[in-house]
Amino acid sequence: MEKDKSQTRLLELHGILRKHNYKYYVLNEPMVSDFEFDQLLNELRAIEEAHPEWITPDSPSQRVGSTISQRFDKVAHPSQILSLANAFDGDDLRAWLDRIGKIDERVFDASFVVEPKLDGLTVVLHYHDGIFVQGATRGNGEVGEDITTNLKTLKSIPLRIPVLTDGPQPPPTLVVRGEVFINLDDFDEMNKRQLELGEKTYQTPRNTAAGTLRQLDSSIVATRPLRILAYTIVSGDGDLPPTQSESIQYLKDLGFPVPDNIEYCKTIDEAVEACEAWVSKREALEYEIDGAVVKIDDQILSADLGIVGKDPRGAIAFKFPALEVSTTLLDVGVNVGRTGVLTPYAILEPVEVGGVTVSQATLHNFDFIAEKDIRIGDRLMIKRAGDVIPYVIGPIIAARSGAEKVYQPPTTCPSCGQKVEQIDGEVAYYCVNPSCPAQLVRIVEHFVARTTLDIVGMGIKIVEQLVNLDIVKDVADIYYLTPEMLIDLEGFADKKVENLLDSIQASKEQPLAKLIFALGIRGVGEVIANDLSKQFGSLDVLSKVKYDELDSIEGIGPNIAQAVIDWFNIPENMQILEKLKKAGVWPILELGADQGPQTFLDKTFVITGTLPSFSRVEAKEFIEGKGGKVSSSVSKKTSFLLAGENAGSKLTKAEALGVEIINEETLRRLAQSV
Ligand code: IVH
Repeated sequence: MEKDKSQTRLLELHGILRKHNYKYYVLNEPMVSDFEFDQLLNELRAIEEAHPEWITPDSPSQRVGSTISQRFDKVAHPSQILSLANAFDGDDLRAWLDRIGKIDERVFDASFVVEPKLDGLTVVLHYHDGIFVQGATRGNGEVGEDITTNLKTLKSIPLRIPVLTDGPQPPPTLVVRGEVFINLDDFDEMNKRQLELGEKTYQTPRNTAAGTLRQLDSSIVATRPLRILAYTIVSGDGDLPPTQSESIQYLKDLGFPVPDNIEYCKTIDEAVEACEAWVSKREALEYEIDGAVVKIDDQILSADLGIVGKDPRGAIAFKFPALEVSTTLLDVGVNVGRTGVLTPYAILEPVEVGGVTVSQATLHNFDFIAEKDIRIGDRLMIKRAGDVIPYVIGPIIAARSGAEKVYQPPTTCPSCGQKVEQIDGEVAYYCVNPSCPAQLVRIVEHFVARTTLDIVGMGIKIVEQLVNLDIVKDVADIYYLTPEMLIDLEGFADKKVENLLDSIQASKEQPLAKLIFALGIRGVGEVIANDLSKQFGSLDVLSKVKYDELDSIEGIGPNIAQAVIDWFNIPENMQILEKLKKAGVWPILELGADQGPQTFLDKTFVITGTLPSFSRVEAKEFIEGKGGKVSSSVSKKTSFLLAGENAGSKLTKAEALGVEIINEETLRRLAQSV
């Protein structure tokens, strides 16, 4: 009896969790908070722990990704996974139609669909009786690799269809093709995090998605922001939709995420126009596309046309002019970050890429320069995508004259001249001089930022002057500034001095979490600072914490735990803390105290563009800290679009749906209002 009850509950939980996953990851319309979702998942896990024999492959608990494979098995595809021939302009598209018109003149009356050509990796998903049983890479088109466990970690891939009980029933076997990719914003955040941790940055969204899909440890895949859009039914039994446009709708009804920007075109001229329009619209997309795909809508006619080599006759890729150009590497510059990490960047002969002049590009780290054998004077291929900093693809070896110079990473810091060090197990080089001016400027800049102690009126120009004049030698010196020290600075007047000093005074009231974050300990971002604040309640306690205590906190790994210990072991840092304490900058968090009003409960936010002081992750954490939710795309259910500079398609969509658009300042104001 008890057993029956828990088995019924187990099935009920499958249905509930499946629905929530779908609403959140496919429709971007969450219905419950993450907390509620986790509670349901935990309930399911508890039943499964008591009855392991009830665990089925489609259980929502099976997405976590825990197995480590030795290698991937080979999978034979049910039919060849085709590629596409290329067209580069409207004439090529019309020539394609003429060519296939010679085989079957019905194409002259055909209509077309134009889809974005996602710059990701093809995957092939197999369903038996609606259960996801296998997922494979494209491989050579005939045989791919079995990456089922990795694909299961993508929450938008249905493990069972129909996802919703009222959805259409799938045929007994169904094979679906889609593209896996990483959004540009997510990619940017991944790299910011890598830099914070002193780890290698990822090179391109596509490479990173490819590398992730072939990860042997699926628990790593589970942490990466992979997305998928499904666009083709490869095979299936029973009645399948006769057109591509209906296939997309059918896939959508079954619960798959599909591209929402597909255009239906009655003539080839309309299709050409749609493709050409994508050239400029691509910039506003959240992901990279490298073209558009024109498909004959009638799938029966398309199949009748057959294939040439590996390409179906019934579809063609319209490739965009590449956002890749070549230019000369004039020199390698080196930035010194707040944690002392040295990051090389390419100083380029200015070149135009897609309407923007580029004169710098990231070089990630010194290993990248060595691995790609990038030499000063080289001709480099560079690529620009969305708002992401342009990246270097590699040198054009054939263009070398012999005069190019091999680059040697600096042995000393470009700012302070002190010897640089490489920390065991990390690729980054660090300047470990705690009083390095370049580092200090960044440290102070971070300390006073809006997300930390929020000292208004202390912009980078002021910070640079204070550091260069030796007035500020560490962050605590800020609290010992006097009007006399400030009045002679460039751009200062009485009122400004007064305002700045007031703001410095007010910053003493900032909560402990902000101060911990402000200290700039390597790997300690806003979230971890908050955890440390809640766990230890004061800097007196935190400064004496033991490694094991830190390591046992969820979300804090060995690297961060060690970084915290190391930071408090540096005598200069302890002196800074003493100076702060003496100045009255010593917030205490009463343990168990409320973290502030949950002003954003039931509100869903979407973030777009570059915000003045928040990074995306910080804005998300800020909103979630107030009980709100952050979703990745705009829908009718979105409460606010938080828009920064260069907002793209999300802004247009929000305007169209009448979603309220706010800036960072309004967000902060709303957060205060109860
Ligand atoms: S259709 C027979 N549609 O582009 C079907 N492919 O250059 C052939 N791709 O290997 C593919 N977006 O990985 C199709 N909307 C889309 C696509 C798409 C991206 C990729 C796919 C394919 C490559 C061909």
